[in-house]
Amino acid sequence: MKKFTSEPLLEITTWIQEALKTSTSLSFIVPDPDQENNRSFKAWVNLAELHFCKLLIPKPIDENFIQLTFQKLNQESSFHSASVKNKEEKYGTNSIFFDINKNEEPTFLHAYKKALEAVKVEKRKHILNLGINKGDEFELIQQLIETETFDNINFTGIDHSQTALNHAKKRFPKDNVQFFQQDINTIKELQLQKSDLIISIGTLQSPSINYKPFLMSLVQEHLTYDGAFILGFPNSRWIDGELIYGAKAPNYPYSEMSLLYNDVIFAKKYLQQKKFRVTITGREYIFLTATRIGL
Ligand SMILES: C[S@@+](CC[C@H](N)C(=O)[O-])C[C@H]1O[C@@H](n2cnc3c(N)ncnc32)[C@H](O)[C@@H]1O
Repeated sequence: MKKFTSEPLLEITTWIQEALKTSTSLSFIVPDPDQENNRSFKAWVNLAELHFCKLLIPKPIDENFIQLTFQKLNQESSFHSASVKNKEEKYGTNSIFFDINKNEEPTFLHAYKKALEAVKVEKRKHILNLGINKGDEFELIQQLIETETFDNINFTGIDHSQTALNHAKKRFPKDNVQFFQQDINTIKELQLQKSDLIISIGTLQSPSINYKPFLMSLVQEHLTYDGAFILGFPNSRWIDGELIYGAKAPNYPYSEMSLLYNDVIFAKKYLQQKKFRVTITGREYIFLTATRIGL
């Protein structure tokens, strides 16, 4: 079995790249990361991800070396590449996306929790979520705040996937939590009361939504004067159950972030013009958080 000792990372990554052309699983021996001055375990985790691999639990070889195994992720097992007949159900209960739990991903959880804290979610009265899917974004709020506080907030979730909404309704059988099956573009038809917090994660960039005019109409028509925004933009792809860093862009075989940056900066500039304080945080998901200045 291949054994690395003090080779530069460039040599190792080149060897891995070549070996993965003919194999889906690759084992090799490296210096124990727990020993001082050796390459860290985090470096191996990052390297595995960059090669679209899962890193299996290492095996000790002797007191100085461990065996690592990189297992290629099945890139077919991604909802990004799945073709669906009914576009409303692209993210429904039968989709690969449905099995994903973002709240269990540390980098997502950390950034979303910070955003909820920044907008003082517990003080909000009416929270609107666009693209709520199975309700994960409400779940974290429920975990974060007191039950009594949660029950005093009106939650509205909108999605066009009926199967996802059916699931969400079962998770939140409460009078203060409502779900509507509706095309987000025609949200006005619901004649909702204005909200003081609008959350939308991984949804507004969908091809079915005209992002810029829609975002402006949200601010103008659906947010109260003291309202806040949390927008989440994926800077990642879900492949074979793993969250892989880097936005997928059309026409590029690798991750490319121009579209993501354009959309985030458009929202930031527009909201700043409208006198919001805007922060941008996150990693695999970029979070834009906006609160009204001077309140
Ligand atoms: C990528 S998923 C994100 C779901 C959830 N916010 C999350 O991050 O896990 C996008 C969601 O928006 C919904 N969606 C996309 N375009 C929509 C539209 N025009 N009207 C209503 N729902 C839409 C999809 O059905 C899906 O549930």
